[in-house]
Amino acid sequence: MPHWASEEMNISFEGSLIEGGEVDLLGNRLKTETDSMNRAAQRGYEDERASINLPIDDHQEVRRVVEEKRELDPEYLVVVGLGGSNLGTVAVQEAVLGRLYNQVTEKTKILYADTVDSGLLQYITALLESVLRRGGNVIINGVSKSGGTTETVANFQILVELLKRYKKDHHDFVVVTTDTGSRFWKFAKGEGYEVLEMPRLVGGRYSVFSPVGLFPLGLLGIDTDRLLSGAREMRDRCLQMEVGENPAALSAAHIFLHSRRGRNIYNLFLFSPDLESLGKWYRQLMGESIGKRCSREREAVFEGITPTVAIGSTDLHSMAQLYLGGPQDKYTTFVGVDEPTAEVRLPEVETYSSLVEGIRGRSLKEIMDAILQGVKVAYVKGKRPFSEITLPDMSERSIGQILQYKMMEMMYLGFLLDVNPFDQPNVEEYKVETRRILEGYK
Ligand code: PA5
Repeated sequence: MPHWASEEMNISFEGSLIEGGEVDLLGNRLKTETDSMNRAAQRGYEDERASINLPIDDHQEVRRVVEEKRELDPEYLVVVGLGGSNLGTVAVQEAVLGRLYNQVTEKTKILYADTVDSGLLQYITALLESVLRRGGNVIINGVSKSGGTTETVANFQILVELLKRYKKDHHDFVVVTTDTGSRFWKFAKGEGYEVLEMPRLVGGRYSVFSPVGLFPLGLLGIDTDRLLSGAREMRDRCLQMEVGENPAALSAAHIFLHSRRGRNIYNLFLFSPDLESLGKWYRQLMGESIGKRCSREREAVFEGITPTVAIGSTDLHSMAQLYLGGPQDKYTTFVGVDEPTAEVRLPEVETYSSLVEGIRGRSLKEIMDAILQGVKVAYVKGKRPFSEITLPDMSERSIGQILQYKMMEMMYLGFLLDVNPFDQPNVEEYKVETRRILEGYK
């Protein structure tokens, strides 16, 4: 089976139960898309695959705004946005800084206003108010590509009005990220807010390496240069013409072939709680990119692939029975991490030896590795197909690699499935209906 590895991120298809010949056949078909991607790589932001060029941009404007807002020494940054406008940021933040970052940091904390929930907004406003009342600073980053998402606009208003009550110069504390010329853009310009513009052809779910992700991540002190350099390395790999040397094309071929065998559920099984949001980011990427009918008439109508996310080892205690004993409708990718951010070891004492054998003095990493090995053996025994990604660590560079890999995989998969991976017509449907209903309330 093809096995792709770099000295960094390792990707293996050894457990995928697909014959190499079948992948090679698809590989020939995929060359058409690789060719289109290579052409897009020369065209800046003038192509719908524009996001592949974000890692080679110098992002000077974002850097300037990050520097400027850092001067204000904010205690909180609130990202107001959802879907493609915040999932990538959450994914990188939690992977690199940890899910419990806010509880342990002495630097800028981050909050996400990603739905119109009174309880959530009450907590956020209470936290911000406690800072503003004693003269501290907070930054509100409103993020909306379309500039017209109801939830974002509603939360943005509440938070900006709060700022106005405490800051005469409240403009200094607001940054808006949106498409040039959107309603949000016009409004923000009119109010004198700092505006970061997104390349028009970069869609929300492909925008993590644009100002959408780079501004909040940079403000938190995440090394965005290393994030982009990881993405760049992977971009180069995923532009290779030969499928055996192109991990994104290879992965798309496997997901496609399994879907054709009735495995229409793709489970991303991440063995670190800090990667859960990366899983959710990917869930959106797959859900919105290929959750649609194929554009051309085919003999069999394509019915989609459903992305699911599982966290090891936690979800083994709720889902393993289904994964190992349930229907053969899933293809899994395990994601493991070689170097944990810290080594935690069990005590070298006899006291607990009657409880679970074999763990005395072991590190939690050793125990997690044993669990992952055990799961893989069970998958092999049950003929449950899987591939594997091993991240060397959770650094910016590694996370940049995996995000870029998955975005390019999705473009290849869209090509194989004959769908447009860049639109989301049915998401727009609900947005329009929501606005219609709200207007009817008047
Ligand atoms: O990826 C997408 O296009 C969507 O999920 C959007 O990101 C989401 O609906 C939010 O839209 P907007 O960024 O326009 O506010």
